[in-house]
Amino acid sequence: MKKINVITIDGPSASGKGALSRKIAHNFGFDILDSGLLYRLCAYFSNKKINLDEIPKKINSEVSFKLNDELVSVHYKKKDITNKLRTEEIAKIASQMSAKNETRKSLFNIQRNFYTESGLVADGRDMGTVVFQDAKLKIFLTASSEIRAKRRYLELQNLGQEVNMPALIADIEERDLKDSSRELSPLIPADEAYVIDSSDMSLEEVFSFTENIVKKEFI
Ligand code: DC
Repeated sequence: MKKINVITIDGPSASGKGALSRKIAHNFGFDILDSGLLYRLCAYFSNKKINLDEIPKKINSEVSFKLNDELVSVHYKKKDITNKLRTEEIAKIASQMSAKNETRKSLFNIQRNFYTESGLVADGRDMGTVVFQDAKLKIFLTASSEIRAKRRYLELQNLGQEVNMPALIADIEERDLKDSSRELSPLIPADEAYVIDSSDMSLEEVFSFTENIVKKEFI
């Protein structure tokens, strides 16, 4: 299989894959695909009673993504809707919709279209196993559910949302189980992926570890 200039970063929710992807994209000047945001957009549009078959067209024509200072923002009809997508309510609906074949199929081409020859960092659950099987470098980032719940807690607090820690741990564990046991594109590392457990590592440490791999194997 011909390999293309993509680094895939898959892993469970709040494993730090988003922060790592943004840091790699920012430092090396690569483009970025946060595929979770596409599933969250499906949930957002379905809350607005928009049919799934209309969603890809809407995403292509009315939604834009921006990477600024290591943050990805989503704009719909020129309004920043990022905070509306980053709620636990939307995450739950996104997880349910992501188990359906129609949802995954409708997002496949949109995700492939993010590819540019100058380099793409794609994060999600099935970037290395399904969407970019032909990626040059694959990483699977994980961490214990307690650590991930703590990270998500801080993230949501920073967004000004009220959070309850035990409920957050339960939500994360339930979603992990659903994402990894579903029939379609389950959350599993690709055969050739580097598996990194970041439970005892800071973002800087994970970045410096991956930076070396990127320099050795990607550039
Ligand atoms: O990474 P996230 O929390 O923003 O993802 C939201 C949901 O979308 C998650 O529960 C599973 C789903 N998802 C997926 O099934 N495949 C992807 N490539 C990315 C996300």
